[in-house]
Amino acid sequence: MRLTQSTTTGSVHFDAPTVTPATPFIKCVGGKTQLLPELRKRMPERIGTYVEPFIGGGALFFDMQPSDAILNDVNPRLINLYVSVRSHKEELVESLACYEKEYNTLTSINAKKDFYYQNRTEFNYGFETDLTVDDAAQFIFLNKSNFNGLYRENAAGKYNAAFGWKERIRLFDEAILSSCSAALQNTSITNGDFEDACNSLSAGDFVYFDPPYYSTFAGYQAGGFSIDDHLRLHNLFQRLTESGVHCMLSNSNTEFIKNLYAGYNIDVVPVKRNINRNGNARHGEEVIITNYMSNQIIKL
Ligand SMILES: C[S@@+](CC[C@H](N)C(=O)[O-])C[C@H]1O[C@@H](n2cnc3c(N)ncnc32)[C@H](O)[C@@H]1O
Repeated sequence: MRLTQSTTTGSVHFDAPTVTPATPFIKCVGGKTQLLPELRKRMPERIGTYVEPFIGGGALFFDMQPSDAILNDVNPRLINLYVSVRSHKEELVESLACYEKEYNTLTSINAKKDFYYQNRTEFNYGFETDLTVDDAAQFIFLNKSNFNGLYRENAAGKYNAAFGWKERIRLFDEAILSSCSAALQNTSITNGDFEDACNSLSAGDFVYFDPPYYSTFAGYQAGGFSIDDHLRLHNLFQRLTESGVHCMLSNSNTEFIKNLYAGYNIDVVPVKRNINRNGNARHGEEVIITNYMSNQIIKL
């Protein structure tokens, strides 16, 4: 805490320390930052373990900062990044600073483009071996210098997003990374399928499911997220409901999703979309589905 003394009155003021909030450190298609006010209002009043089986950029987790959490994603490279932020933040910052400096000092955009594609190739080869902190830094570099922050893999499981033509890049804010690292300290971070992440939950735990959208953008990993995956997720939602686990799920507002979850609480909320193949319909709607009653919703 900083102390300041007024020169005119002699009185002493205490300036509250400014803490940088933890916010997502990657750009993620389908990120939930803009939906946070709607999600917050629908959180149950009390939660045991907080679980996010599709962590992506982790917008809700960083907003809530629960003390006991399980964070999971099927993407091993994304999970390696979370582990690096949690356990090797200093090393990660050093590596990020090198990527940023090297890119920004290249004098032509074509040289920057070559640097991007060279790293993209290395990133895909590096995947064959154990993932390192440098792979985590490379993930952030590719995520922030590609086109529109789009994480996309081809059918062979190779990251294939195109170059973003940026003159300069800023890869990190150390204060935000420190806050994120602190928020991640007591979390269990796992790499696998969403069903496995929900294996050992009990009544009173809370799960936020933010799966890839149905029928729109579902190219997060090779093979996408199929209708069978949506049906599997619905079965899990039902099993967890029967066990007394509080569940909240978001997805695009489609008849398929609304029919699948008919019988649960379904709210439709407006959103702005950035990713759209034909460039129109940038406004859309999402659904937020809960398996608990509205009288358990906190009024903020
Ligand atoms: C919509 S994003 C999550 C966005 C996140 N809530 C945010 O705020 O940034 C969906 C995530 O699901 C992951 N995913 C796709 N299929 C999965 C599966 N079968 N099991 C676990 N995660 C999966 C993707 O890798 C991606 O990170």
